[in-house]
Amino acid sequence: DASDVELGGFPHFMLKEIFEQPETVRNAMRGRLDRDAATAKFGGLNLTPQQLRAIDRFVLTACGTSWHSALVGEYMIETLARVPVEVEYASELRYRNPPLTPTTLLFALTQSGETIDTLAALREMKRKGHPTMAICNVVGSTIAREADGGIYLHAGPEIGVASTKAYTSQCVVMALLALHFGRLHHLSYEAGLRIIDDLERLPEQVEKALETNAECRRIAAKYAGCENFLYLGRLYNFPTALEGALKLKEISYIHAEGYPAAEMKHGPIALVDEHTPSVFIVPRCGVYDKVVANVEEIKARGGPVIAIVEEGDHEVAQIADDVLEIPATADFLQPIVAAIPLQLLAYHIAVLRGCDVDKPRNLAKSVTVE
Ligand code: AGP
Repeated sequence: DASDVELGGFPHFMLKEIFEQPETVRNAMRGRLDRDAATAKFGGLNLTPQQLRAIDRFVLTACGTSWHSALVGEYMIETLARVPVEVEYASELRYRNPPLTPTTLLFALTQSGETIDTLAALREMKRKGHPTMAICNVVGSTIAREADGGIYLHAGPEIGVASTKAYTSQCVVMALLALHFGRLHHLSYEAGLRIIDDLERLPEQVEKALETNAECRRIAAKYAGCENFLYLGRLYNFPTALEGALKLKEISYIHAEGYPAAEMKHGPIALVDEHTPSVFIVPRCGVYDKVVANVEEIKARGGPVIAIVEEGDHEVAQIADDVLEIPATADFLQPIVAAIPLQLLAYHIAVLRGCDVDKPRNLAKSVTVE
């Protein structure tokens, strides 16, 4: 029947959408990488280069998973473009009235383009005279229409209530913006080209990360009976930890918390026991040794550890109970590749617990009431 066609042989839309990501990540970049100028370009920003160069602050606003991609964007833009970024929950921003410069640019990140809080925050910022941009998947949606300009994700319809491909596409667009604004300010031509090289390798790395599927299913079976999970990562992978925890909560109804790994000793470590697994995102990066030390602290307290590591990392494999290997990438692209096994892990745990993964209880695909 018709639903079989749409599912393309997958048992759920969520799994189908997870597997679409090599393609959707490619689509988010298509036509936007400019090798001659070593930058990213966008058709729809509707601001002159002069106006763009004058921007001295970004506010990124969103809800839920889109808020997590905004957080990834903060790390990318502040690192690569050196422009200050605030990330605000749209539900807070709409009532909060933070002090902002007249040259603050708002980005509203939203898959659906219909989330009421995000729309209200955008309207409020617009009313105050700030230029507003939508980073949106659904073409012609309310937020896409009301913003002064924007960037589409081109990820295709996302049916599963748990956002997967829209999240990774939002992260790609954030990387493109970081490159664009980096090149307007201090990034060299060479540095711009290196970032383009990194981005062009991404679809293949996402493809490779999908090969963890069988291993994710095996690990899911081992831990599907647990009632509490911690997700821990640092720097670029702190938002990854938040997103991994949200995916698990939404579709499996297991309590999960995401934290910056070093923050756990300020409270969450009290939760650790042999029934509370910690999922660590620990690819090689500037703080690799520190995260490995955090893994050891959890192990010393009897907590099981599932670690997302880079291919060929034998150090973490020796201390963690289970490892999932993903390809090495540039640091700023790790959240995109590391999201894949976290989505798969949540998916398989939810399926094993008999949950309705595409339509979890109490949740709507887009939240259009306050
Ligand atoms: C994602 O898995 C969630 N279901 C939810 O947090 C979602 O990201 C949020 O409601 C925002 O939706 P939007 O991107 O369509 O604005």
